[in-house]
Amino acid sequence: MLAFLLIVGVSFAMMASSLTNLVSDYLYEQRIRQDSLSVEKLATTLAPLFQSAKTDALQDALVEEGGQMGGRLMIVDEDGKVQFDSFGKLCGMRLELPEVLAILTGGQSSAYGIHRLSGGESSLTGTAEDEYVAYCASSLIGTRGRLGALLFVSPVQEMMQSLSAVQRQLLSVFVGVAAAALLAASIFSRVITKPISALTRTIEKMGKGDLSVRVKVRGSGEMRHLAESYNAMAEQLESLDRSRNQFVSNASHELKTPLATMKILLESLIYQPDMPSELRAEFMQDMDHEIDRLTGIITDLLTLTQMDSRQMELHPEAVNLSELTEETLRLLQPAAEKRGQTLTCRVVDGCRLMADRSKLGQVIYNLTENGLKYTPDGGSVTVTLTVEGRFAVLTVQDNGVGIPKEDQAHIFDRFYRVDKARSRETGGTGLGLSIVRQLVTLHHGTVSVDSAPGKGSTFTVRLPMDGKESA
Ligand SMILES: Nc1ncnc2c1ncn2[C@@H]1O[C@H](COP(=O)(O)OP(=O)(O)OP(=O)(O)O)[C@@H](O)[C@H]1O
Ligand SMILES: [Mg+2]
Repeated sequence: MLAFLLIVGVSFAMMASSLTNLVSDYLYEQRIRQDSLSVEKLATTLAPLFQSAKTDALQDALVEEGGQMGGRLMIVDEDGKVQFDSFGKLCGMRLELPEVLAILTGGQSSAYGIHRLSGGESSLTGTAEDEYVAYCASSLIGTRGRLGALLFVSPVQEMMQSLSAVQRQLLSVFVGVAAAALLAASIFSRVITKPISALTRTIEKMGKGDLSVRVKVRGSGEMRHLAESYNAMAEQLESLDRSRNQFVSNASHELKTPLATMKILLESLIYQPDMPSELRAEFMQDMDHEIDRLTGIITDLLTLTQMDSRQMELHPEAVNLSELTEETLRLLQPAAEKRGQTLTCRVVDGCRLMADRSKLGQVIYNLTENGLKYTPDGGSVTVTLTVEGRFAVLTVQDNGVGIPKEDQAHIFDRFYRVDKARSRETGGTGLGLSIVRQLVTLHHGTVSVDSAPGKGSTFTVRLPMDGKESA
């Protein structure tokens, strides 16, 4: 700010002084040219009169010309003595003016100078108040050489006054412009720094943990863009924070349920030592089941957090998807048979792609397991694998409970369950489908659902066989 003012100040001062110089040079030049021309001209006319000592004619000419030119005319001889004076006062006096000396001793043909007379000095112009006078001298050349000098003394008070008026005007312009610059600079800096300091304060607050703070979006251009981008970033951070908290609380809740069940079972075993052995064995089995469930949840949570922190690495290999589907369904066959469900497998032969075998296996497993889980006893689940262009298309179709339209958009969210009570019964955590979606996305594929309550659901996974992202 100070530097800015300094630059403005210095540049204006320089501009003002050079402008004054320019104006004064112009005025001087004009004056010098005018005076010198008339004095030189007059000198040539007067020289013969002076040489032939026509005293009266010379005196008259001097008085007349002096009056016309608005100044005093004097003729000085070679010794510097005044011979004639249009004011008729200084005759016989010796004049030691530099302009006269320049001609008489310096040999110049003409000389010009402007002088400021100090208070006591008597003015040669005759008017006491004149401060500035101009001396214009020109040599008087006769037939036998130089005879002396013609001196013209004129008041230049007016010229000097207009010069100082110009200076005063420039000074006031300079002061005005400097004040305007100062005002503009302070307004400008306030306009610039205000939103920046508001943003800084907000960032500081955010750094202290308050993610709800936002900056006011004002003005236009870059600052507006910055405020908007900052707010968008804060919004994202806040929602990330919210979903992380949600995730932790959901996960804790899910882990608490099997632990609570196990505690009850354990306490029963401890406090009822004479429990019949069949009941004891059943309790033990239940506990074993809960431990499996706990392990399952923890494995799912680990898978999800690994995918979140992008630590999950795919180990692509040539996978025969047809074989993988058949193998996975074989694992689920006993569970289906137990509930009288028909699990049908219709796969094209030799569908191959580069993928992470175990992760694709998990996708097939989760979807088929859901199909069986949400289909009543005696129902059917059909898994189909076909090839459509460059895509391998896997569908898992069941004739089970189906999913209401309003839930379909959420079933891929973590911990989302359509029917909380029922899925708790069936042991679901609500993580299976979110894992499916993430794994399919990692393979550049898509997963979708088509379902109607009471009629059944069809999940479709499309995987690009060339590993390229689908358009
Ligand atoms: N084939 C299906 N038929 C009907 N509802 C389904 C089907 N698949 C999923 N759902 C609904 O979507 C919800 C989410 O499924 P998801 O697989 O993510 O969780 P889950 O099966 O409840 O638990 P888990 O984490 O053990 O898989 C389920 O709770 C269920 O309500
Ligand atoms: Mg599931």
